[in-house]
Amino acid sequence: MAPQLMWIGLGNMGRGMCKNLVEKGNLDKPLIIYNRTKKRSEDLAAKLPKGKTEIVDSIEEGVKKADIIFTIVSNDAAVREAVSSALKGEVKGKLIVECSTIHPDTVEQVAKDVLAKGAEFVASPVFGAPPAADAGQLIFVPAGPKATIDKARPYFKGVMGKAEIPMDDKPYGTSQKLKLIGNSFILNMVSQLGEGLAMAEKTGVGVEPLKEFIDTLFGGVHSGYAQRMVSGTYWKMEEPLFSADNALKDAGHAINLAQSAGMELKNAKTAQGYLKGVAEYAGGSKGDIAGIYGIARQQAGLKYENDA
Ligand SMILES: NC(=O)c1ccc[n+]([C@@H]2O[C@H](COP(=O)([O-])OP(=O)(O)OC[C@H]3O[C@@H](n4cnc5c(N)ncnc54)[C@H](OP(=O)(O)O)[C@@H]3O)[C@@H](O)[C@H]2O)c1
Repeated sequence: MAPQLMWIGLGNMGRGMCKNLVEKGNLDKPLIIYNRTKKRSEDLAAKLPKGKTEIVDSIEEGVKKADIIFTIVSNDAAVREAVSSALKGEVKGKLIVECSTIHPDTVEQVAKDVLAKGAEFVASPVFGAPPAADAGQLIFVPAGPKATIDKARPYFKGVMGKAEIPMDDKPYGTSQKLKLIGNSFILNMVSQLGEGLAMAEKTGVGVEPLKEFIDTLFGGVHSGYAQRMVSGTYWKMEEPLFSADNALKDAGHAINLAQSAGMELKNAKTAQGYLKGVAEYAGGSKGDIAGIYGIARQQAGLKYENDA
């Protein structure tokens, strides 16, 4: 019999991950889903085939019935809150797989709390934007005891993900350290794209030839983010794909991690400055990371919104 799975957090990432679990996870029971705002659970359940999900009203209610509980929520405070609710009942022998991006110290503390209650824990942040989550193309970075990771592994590669960067038997915080270093690449890339596209416009080159250069030389995530800028998606979309608040959290954690290792993350500080501008102009929970382009435009004397 397959384990009973539960999912906590149906934001941009969680929704796509659940879709892939339901489609490819070989589940023999409905996936239990919980989201703080219930409407998101209802919307997801309506989109997936009938009988494939079971909505619960509280984390405690779902955890009671579940063997493996996945979490992916906004930030450190949200993870602490969700896991502490999960630990309210009897959890001995259950497994919690935490996929959010949080500070390495937070994940170590959360893991301690989980283990103290007799449950098992895997820290597995993920690389990949929401479209990659939808397409089952995420990269998982699981850390913790190998025997524990092996219980979650069947749901990573080939189900929700395309690959793993395994951290078997490594401290939980190691996976978050890699995730933060990796996200500093994303922050820098998005800042570079925003500045470059603003500069292409200001110098009379135009954004289209620069977009062509980006697509031809780099492709992949560079092209994805450049498209979000050139198409105007960064200011037109109702909900951000990667909120300014979440990106600011990542920048802050990465800068803090570098400091604690005795070095300075200068590029991330540039991205942090741009992101503060996005949060101020478009709202922290409404503005998207690609809005860095809008701020680079403003700083060059253009409007935040492009003419797309
Ligand atoms: N977006 C990306 O490109 C990306 C890529 C890789 C990793 N990540 C990481 O994955 C995590 C989720 O990102 P996302 O883009 O899916 O975020 P999101 O769209 O902003 O969704 C956040 C989720 O967290 C829930 N939440 C927030 N505070 C909560 C609390 N106190 N208790 C319970 N639930 C709470 C929200 O519930 P409500 O619906 O009620 O607000 C929502 O389900 C973050 O740690 C992010 O850094 C994001």
